[in-house]
Amino acid sequence: MINLYQKYFAIVLTALFVFTPVAVFASSDNSHHPMAQSWPHKETFGTYDKPSLQRGFQVYREVCAGCHSMNLLSYRNLAEIGFTADEIKAIAAEDNVMDGPNDEGEMFERPARPSDRFKAPFENEAQARFGNNGAYPPDLSLLVKARHGGEDYIFALLTGYDTPPAGETVRDGMYWNKYFKGNQIGMAPPLSSGLITYSNGKSASLEQSARDITQFLAWASEPNMEERKKMGLKVLLFLLVFSVIAYTAKRRIWAKIH
Ligand code: HEC
Repeated sequence: MINLYQKYFAIVLTALFVFTPVAVFASSDNSHHPMAQSWPHKETFGTYDKPSLQRGFQVYREVCAGCHSMNLLSYRNLAEIGFTADEIKAIAAEDNVMDGPNDEGEMFERPARPSDRFKAPFENEAQARFGNNGAYPPDLSLLVKARHGGEDYIFALLTGYDTPPAGETVRDGMYWNKYFKGNQIGMAPPLSSGLITYSNGKSASLEQSARDITQFLAWASEPNMEERKKMGLKVLLFLLVFSVIAYTAKRRIWAKIH
């Protein structure tokens, strides 16, 4: 009796091992794995590349902000990536935000102040979907952390638009992207070579602008990364010094005993 159960169990187990990988491979998804890029801030004691973050902010402002909110950022946070107080005031004042109610109970618009959150392009999710063929442009504040592959994935996605392989058709309002899960994405290619002209007068290649916006988004999702690394270094140094002291103390104490 027991033998029969064992046999049955063994057969089920074998079937699981053999067929599960087949099923996974068979699911129709042509998405590629993003290529690993080198990011200065990902190195052990690496810091953010501030000029790149500033260029990335320009890309966000000129392109992505048309569809994507960044609700966790306030204009004044831009000081952390090297903008001056006056620059921040001017950047904020370009946006109008709702405020109120005033003394008469009315809501009113006013230019944004540094303490305001970044103005979102849409009032709510329904409006965002309505403006994007039903697809929802996610908030970008934490997206680098929220997506498997982080920076590498975002960079790959932005540079990964292509014509579909033979035999594949792209649905209406969708675009073929090598790195998006399922390959059909509801976001038209947002970047292209020459789309952005940086403040130094140079027009940016697709790769350059994708690199800069990715680094800006990485900073947004972990603005305290540099502090964290500095603290880690301090802790390591402390442990090192402490170990030396402990070792010396140990030798002294035991020296007396034998
Ligand atoms: C015209 C509107 C529009 C613009 C401009 C735009 N996006 Fe999108 N984006 C979308 C929509 C819509 C989606 C959702 C697509 C979907 O789910 O099929 C999306 C999705 C994304 C995603 C999520 C992909 C995923 O894995 O879910 C990222 C990342 C992204 N956009 C980054 C950007 C960046 C960076 C820019 C600026 C360079 C930008 N987008 C500009 C509309 C836009």
